[in-house]
Amino acid sequence: MIHTRICDLLGITHPIVLGGMGTATTAPLVAAVSNAGGFGTLGTSAFNAATLESEIAAIHERTEKPFGINHLLFQIQEDMFAVTLRAKPAVAAFAWARKDQNLRDYFQRAHDAGCKVMHMAGEVPEALRAAEAGADVLVAQGTEAGGHVGWMASLPLVPMMVKAVAPLPVLLAGGIADGRGLAAALALGAEGVLLGTRFMATPEAPIHANFKQAIVKSDGHDTVLTEIPDLVSQRVWPGAMSRAQRNRFIERWSGHEWAIRQNVTEIGKQLAGARSAGDIDNASLSFGQDAGLIDSIKTVHEVVRDMVAEAEEIIRGRLATLLRI
Ligand SMILES: Cc1cc2nc3c(=O)[nH]c(=O)nc-3n(C[C@H](O)[C@H](O)[C@H](O)COP(=O)(O)O)c2cc1C
Repeated sequence: MIHTRICDLLGITHPIVLGGMGTATTAPLVAAVSNAGGFGTLGTSAFNAATLESEIAAIHERTEKPFGINHLLFQIQEDMFAVTLRAKPAVAAFAWARKDQNLRDYFQRAHDAGCKVMHMAGEVPEALRAAEAGADVLVAQGTEAGGHVGWMASLPLVPMMVKAVAPLPVLLAGGIADGRGLAAALALGAEGVLLGTRFMATPEAPIHANFKQAIVKSDGHDTVLTEIPDLVSQRVWPGAMSRAQRNRFIERWSGHEWAIRQNVTEIGKQLAGARSAGDIDNASLSFGQDAGLIDSIKTVHEVVRDMVAEAEEIIRGRLATLLRI
């Protein structure tokens, strides 16, 4: 069995973490990942304080295993953070801080509530800032990931971050959908992996069935870094682009960003309508390049089981046979 320091730190069997995804994580998915021996994380940006509280209760109804709660720091709301602190999850996970935010303050309050602190960074300076502010785990997110990303690919980013924040554990996020990715992450010095896209293509994920099929059908070459979805939602992310499928919605507005600003309410309504209808051409579909590695919907249990088995086989089998004495 693959066992790393993150397993001991988080009290989990397998070094596989579900990224807290604002629009794509609810109690069934979070609990399923934790029950499968990984670590589930709830994203919070689709909730308010009351609905977050009930979602956390729904996780507790489904699992007794540890889980985390994720906050986007640039838009963190005090009443929602208070709900997280009262809930005392095993991990308070953070991402996307503005440079002028005081990380130490948030991390200290999470520690005082008994949580470990996980911080996601797409660059080494941000990881160092979080390490100095007291983070317990860093997530190195490569630009191949789904959702909001920075500019560095995980292949160079992970070893650089591992070295910079040593001895703190680092997880690799972005592009991981199977055991090959897990084995590669461990080879780069990561203590485990954090996944978004692979867990979205599961029955437990709370996204429209058509969006899951879009991930299955994607060959991984059809995503693009864009600000269009953020322009429509009128949220300015600090230093991030969004990786989304280059569908009709993105192509229609590329080069016409000014027209989005002119018509933002109407376009926002159309986008929300397309989203709830499962219209894959006219909704915004965020997923990573690893969609090209995903060719079926699998249960969370199967994802975790297969990923661990394949990584073990690679390490024990193929890699070991390459050695000559
Ligand atoms: C739809 C979507 C929403 C996301 N929302 C968040 C979020 O709210 N907070 C966060 O820290 N990361 C978020 N992420 C990023 C994931 O945590 C993770 O870094 C990423 O999905 C990993 O890459 P992968 O999709 O290739 O596995 C999101 C990703 C996706 C695809």
